[in-house]
Amino acid sequence: MLRVQLTEARETLLVTLYGRALDARATRPVLGDTMASEAVNAIDFDFATTHITPRMAPTVAVRAKFIDDWVREFLREHQGEATVVHLGAGLDTRVWRIDPGPEVTWFDVDFPEVIEIRRALFPERPGYHMIGASVTDEGWLDRIPDGRPTLAVAEGLSMYLTAREGVTLLRRITDRFNGGTTIAFDAFNRLAIRTQKMNPAVRMSGATLHWSVDHPRDLVRDVPGLRLRDAVVALTAPGSELLPRGTRVLSSALRPFRPIRQMSRYLRYER
Ligand SMILES: C[S@@+](CC[C@H](N)C(=O)[O-])C[C@H]1O[C@@H](n2cnc3c(N)ncnc32)[C@H](O)[C@@H]1O
Repeated sequence: MLRVQLTEARETLLVTLYGRALDARATRPVLGDTMASEAVNAIDFDFATTHITPRMAPTVAVRAKFIDDWVREFLREHQGEATVVHLGAGLDTRVWRIDPGPEVTWFDVDFPEVIEIRRALFPERPGYHMIGASVTDEGWLDRIPDGRPTLAVAEGLSMYLTAREGVTLLRRITDRFNGGTTIAFDAFNRLAIRTQKMNPAVRMSGATLHWSVDHPRDLVRDVPGLRLRDAVVALTAPGSELLPRGTRVLSSALRPFRPIRQMSRYLRYER
């Protein structure tokens, strides 16, 4: 068994990993990420402390599936050579779920101590690289080739950055890649940041959430060259029909209240 000792934002990866593992063990999984289930079996950690239950697991799985589908769409649109940069990858096995062809180069980026755990848990694969760095550091982007269509994708990361760090990161990404860039990530609004103590990942880890994106178009102003392709409300996004009935009933009751409806959104920008 692999002992892991992570704190704050790094520890939250265990919450989402466990959500995907429980989904994989369900009778009718949404994502079916059996590698996540195997990883949970291999890690010496009391996953009950995540407070994620089988009933909550589809919420994690639906988000992962939605973002997986954007990655697949990007790879279809850019057939041939392309680069995927997966930021704040945690212990997500997205590269195996997508299983891209040999013409795709894939980078998973997370803090060095997280990458160390990834290396212990997951096998290598051709075209797949890991970078141990904070996404807020300068320098790691130089390790990624430019001149090819590039997708920067992140799930459950933006809210752990400050607004300044987030905007700087988006600027660096758009400046760096000159072969066409797509940036896809989920973002919280101000209400989600204000009510963060209700978020199981925050409660369990003691992490603090900072960055809210209330108006996705503001980033077009803050990051020269970026244009907004999609801003999709997570509660009603494709795949949300797979959420448990209780969540769906609640979400349709809350739909008229815009700040509640927009607590979490999937954003896709292009350059
Ligand atoms: C909620 S977890 C999500 C992990 C993964 N994307 C998933 O969906 O399972 C948040 C992740 O963001 C990473 N993270 C937070 N701040 C980061 C930073 N500044 N640089 C790199 N990774 C960061 C954490 O280490 C953690 O893996």
